[in-house]
Amino acid sequence: MRSLKTSIIGAFVLLFLVATVPNRVAVSQKTKPATGQANVASTDDEELVRCPIDVEVPPCDTPICVDPALEEAPTAFDDTTNGLVKQPQHDLDRETFEERDTIKDGLGPVYNAQACAECHQNPVSGSVSQINELRAGHQDVFGNFVDAPGGSLINDRTIDPKIQERVPPLFSAMIKEDEPVRTFRTSLNLLGDGFVEAVPNEFLLDIAAQQPHDAVSGFLVHGQAIPVPIEELPPDSRRICRIGRFGHKDQHASLLSFSGDAYLNEMGITNRLFLMENSSLGRSTAAFDPIPNDSTLPCDPTTDPPPGQNTFCGEDPERDIDAFTQFMRATKAPARDEDIARTDEAVKGDELFHAIGCAVCHVDTLVTAREGVVINGGTFKVPGALANKIIHPFGDFLLHDIGTGDGIVQNGGQKTRLKVRTAPLWGVRTHTRLMHDGLSLTFIEAIKRHDVEAKVVRDNFFNLDPDQQRYVITFLESL
Ligand code: HEC
Ligand code: HEC
Repeated sequence: MRSLKTSIIGAFVLLFLVATVPNRVAVSQKTKPATGQANVASTDDEELVRCPIDVEVPPCDTPICVDPALEEAPTAFDDTTNGLVKQPQHDLDRETFEERDTIKDGLGPVYNAQACAECHQNPVSGSVSQINELRAGHQDVFGNFVDAPGGSLINDRTIDPKIQERVPPLFSAMIKEDEPVRTFRTSLNLLGDGFVEAVPNEFLLDIAAQQPHDAVSGFLVHGQAIPVPIEELPPDSRRICRIGRFGHKDQHASLLSFSGDAYLNEMGITNRLFLMENSSLGRSTAAFDPIPNDSTLPCDPTTDPPPGQNTFCGEDPERDIDAFTQFMRATKAPARDEDIARTDEAVKGDELFHAIGCAVCHVDTLVTAREGVVINGGTFKVPGALANKIIHPFGDFLLHDIGTGDGIVQNGGQKTRLKVRTAPLWGVRTHTRLMHDGLSLTFIEAIKRHDVEAKVVRDNFFNLDPDQQRYVITFLESL
């Protein structure tokens, strides 16, 4: 019965996929499957640039095709569900997100922390923290970025000191070359990300198309949208991409893909999307792993695996990655501090923020797709709780060169080497270390670092009188 049920659901999913095929924007005739985890840059990444994406907005009269029923997304920092699931389920999913994994759960061999909530917690589970991560690599003779051995992510922790990673060289392991391109990466807020995931591809492409290209004034903003793979698609249909929006490099478009990637790369736990354990600077970790790498371990048979998806789960038989994903999708968006937002200073700051051009990249309003629109390459249907919502992320989810590029390439190809995603400013009052590397400690310092595409706007800011500058900062303190 079980397998019959699965195959009926499987057939349904297939129909679904077939139904969406004509909506696909053929960016190329590419035939090679896209690369896997966003931890590793490879030559395939260039090919992703031409990977086709789905049309996610049904054809209609308005450019963004919104229903009259459009409403503001719920916001709060209070652990309550946005309505996607009931509160008791949301609490269970949050507990999974907060659960501290140990060696017997598959932790490591190399990892960064023991729980998602260790890095996504301030002021509630799912938001941000002061913890950052390390990436490293180098440029080859052509100027292309090349990962450090085993991938650009340098894991900070391990279950055995013999396989500790560090930025090379590591002479005792015969790893002699320097990896001079390095960066820190700050943890990011996840609250409200279910709404961000539900924003159609076209909306992000539209924002990029509308950004100013004024050569005379030198105001040249060109947000780059990159197609990235959907890891939950079966490998043989991995030719469908989606516009990336998550991570400092827009390396993922789906929260399930990010959850699988994070479970492996942050905690060392293999799962049905990523079944291969990480190396330590390219060296095998097998001899130090009490739970041997086994890509044939099945998922827990007491729960149905998602239709059409891998039934091997590695170290994640309970499919925690689905709980993480559901948790994030059910969070409310970060709420503003209304007491500050109401002050004259913040109101004037809001006006100035828009008038001087900050909102060209820190876009204040986005809307999510209609209920039932199929996203993530056909694997997810936008549910009512996430559909037709107005959100205020103060970000365009596009990559820009504002002179802070960290030199690292993930899913977007070499053209993204010096670009970083516009930091969404919702909830920014809870961040203490700003910019992708966390090296700017005040709002003024962060604004000072804006250059290249943001130079004109930065100059506008520093041409304001000191009171006006203070108003803009007060506005940021309300977000
Ligand atoms: C050691 C700290 C750490 C742990 C543990 C961790 N994360 Fe993260 N998370 C980060 C950092 C750092 C980033 C930014 C990564 C980047 O883009 O370089 C991030 C980014 C994300 C994003 C992208 C958010 C956005 O809006 O762009 C998602 C989603 C995410 N993490 C989910 C998870 C999940 C799910 C887990 C648990 C499996 C997890 N993370 C565990 C540090 C962590
Ligand atoms: C051309 C696009 C662009 C414009 C215009 C722009 N920004 Fe940004 N902003 C970015 C990008 C990209 C980042 C992330 C940079 C990084 O992480 O290295 C960022 C980061 C920030 C951050 C850090 C947030 C965090 O969580 O770390 C603040 C604060 C900020 N911008 C404020 C402003 C203000 C205020 C203005 C107007 C004076 C402005 N920005 C104009 C693109 C822009």
